[in-house]
Amino acid sequence: MKTSGNKILITGATSGIGLALAERFLQLNNAVIAVGRNPESLATLQSRFPDLYPFRCDLAAADGPGGLVRYVQQQHPDVNVLINNAAIQYNYHFLGQEDIPDRAEYEIRLNLTVPVTLCGLLLPVLSVQPQAAIVHVTSGLGLVPKKSAPVYCATKAGLHLFTKALRYQLEGSPVKVFEIIPPVVDTPMTAGRGSRKISPQQLVDEFMRAFERDRFEVSIGKVKLLRLISRLAPAVADRILKNG
Ligand SMILES: NC(=O)c1ccc[n+]([C@@H]2O[C@H](COP(=O)([O-])OP(=O)(O)OC[C@H]3O[C@@H](n4cnc5c(N)ncnc54)[C@H](OP(=O)(O)O)[C@@H]3O)[C@@H](O)[C@H]2O)c1
Repeated sequence: MKTSGNKILITGATSGIGLALAERFLQLNNAVIAVGRNPESLATLQSRFPDLYPFRCDLAAADGPGGLVRYVQQQHPDVNVLINNAAIQYNYHFLGQEDIPDRAEYEIRLNLTVPVTLCGLLLPVLSVQPQAAIVHVTSGLGLVPKKSAPVYCATKAGLHLFTKALRYQLEGSPVKVFEIIPPVVDTPMTAGRGSRKISPQQLVDEFMRAFERDRFEVSIGKVKLLRLISRLAPAVADRILKNG
């Protein structure tokens, strides 16, 4: 996939991995539609990069994805890359917490339903471009779960398989389907937990090499080792991640 001259929609572009992807693609002469809820972060981004189109939107709200898609159809019918990155991770124990159904429903909606919905609604726009891509940010936790975030792990496992099946469906179309599978990355999502984190910029360095070479399933850093261990000795991989 080419790395410049694209128009790229990035959800969750105000922080962490999404912000690092937005910065890198802007530096490489792409236009970026940056989606997030935080107005100050969006305004700061826009003041730094004239080729950035900020779109403030709560993707978990009832009309969040629909409003975003209408904006794209009307203002940016030339968008050719969709990066579904925004997500949330809740840590909770199913025994002893009362608001589980609400929290779980929110997490499933933002992490899984929204990316699937955006793919469905934006594929008619993407598929008429000469070259297009969908990029999903999943997680090593979608391959091997940890006990503290069961719903998060389930959403990432779901998105991982959705991404693979969608790639099969779109074979022969102009739309390439990529997946970034990160290890623990130093972002606000992981503040106060995890160790030996990589920076969002390191993740982006590795992803860009794969994006350019059409390597569609991109295991970042330690996830490569995790995948090997989980194939050779699944119980060992389970033990490593269980209390992560
Ligand atoms: N950090 C890690 O270690 C790690 C590891 C594996 C996978 N990942 C995945 O990487 C992706 C990015 O994570 P991150 O670590 O960069 O997280 P982050 O720093 O917390 O950023 C999350 C982004 O999502 C946006 N967002 C959250 N809720 C939203 C909503 N309701 N509507 C619209 N935007 C919303 C936030 O923007 P606003 O606050 O402006 O809305 C923010 O830009 C996620 O898919 C995550 O699951 C992260």
